[in-house]
Amino acid sequence: KSEVFILAIESSCDDTAAAVLHNDKVLSNVVANQLIHNQYGGVVPELASRAHQQNIVPVIDAALRKANVQKEQLNAIAFTQGPGLMGSLLVGSSFSKSMALALNIPLIAVNHMQAHILAHFIDEEGFEKPTFPFLALTISGGHTQIVKVNDFFDMEIIGETTDDAVGEAFDKSAKILNLPYPGGPLIDKYAQLGNPKAFTFTKPKVPGLDFSFSGLKTAILYFIQKNVAQNPSFIEENRNDICSSIQYTIIEILMDKIKLAVKETGIKQIAIGGGVSANSGIRKRLKETEKKYGWKTFIPKFEYTTDNAAMIGIVGYQKYLNEQFETSKVVSKARISF
Ligand code: KG4
Ligand code: ZN
Repeated sequence: KSEVFILAIESSCDDTAAAVLHNDKVLSNVVANQLIHNQYGGVVPELASRAHQQNIVPVIDAALRKANVQKEQLNAIAFTQGPGLMGSLLVGSSFSKSMALALNIPLIAVNHMQAHILAHFIDEEGFEKPTFPFLALTISGGHTQIVKVNDFFDMEIIGETTDDAVGEAFDKSAKILNLPYPGGPLIDKYAQLGNPKAFTFTKPKVPGLDFSFSGLKTAILYFIQKNVAQNPSFIEENRNDICSSIQYTIIEILMDKIKLAVKETGIKQIAIGGGVSANSGIRKRLKETEKKYGWKTFIPKFEYTTDNAAMIGIVGYQKYLNEQFETSKVVSKARISF
């Protein structure tokens, strides 16, 4: 069983992705981004599932080719069961079921949120793996969660957003500033050139480890409207400072909750994942905690933080070792907890 080849397929939202793993090593990791959604300022579910149908065969072909692995060598197929957009999930699950059936190999269902966390267990040179227990902060356009990870499949959500995800907070703020979607990376870019203390936005008061970002978005909207009414070129003249202040506030909100989670659990290992973990400010602040508070932080390779199939594959590998297989009766789920 030491030679396991797994084909992993991810199609929960707007990226069609396939990866081939040899045990815990990634041989190929292919993602087809659906740029069609950008003109709508967000993901259009119907367009997403249609694009998955077009992309899935070429993406899987490319993944097998890059890995230099033949279909016949595969030991199992892992796919994203949920959470995600139903129409998108169904494309990946139907394809995986048919392929597993045709090749007569096991089918493995993977929870996308667990996969974001377990991506840290991909064997990658220069990247250390966390040890159990650790805290995982998953931050993306769709999710904001703090999870206490006791073991591979023993996880507990200890905090999550009650409204918008962090990525949405970035993207919606960017929209208010007339920046194109997805605006997170642009806010990050301008933020690095500005003064984070130029403007103050009040942080939401949410009890415990949960998050809320919708109030911040409204506060930013009113702030911009008020200032633009007085000075029509307010945004252009202050773009860097505005972005820097918004980013600073969002990071403060995240850091406050992680600090509280560390205090409540006594766990000082923090692993982040999800597209927003690309943010330069968050990376910097997290790294600072290592010296300041003695935490140990883990940031995966960039291609494993945004939606990808390699993370589905590493969960597939763990489940393969445990023989956690499914029949083709397994159903996709728009919502699932751990
Ligand atoms: O994980 P991801 O690629 O897709 C899902 O949402 O599942 O995350 C995308 C999100 C978007 O909201 C995008 O604006 C945000 O991640 N993002 C960033 C940065 N890079 C991507 N937000 C802030 N700073 C960044 N550098
Ligand atoms: Zn995701």
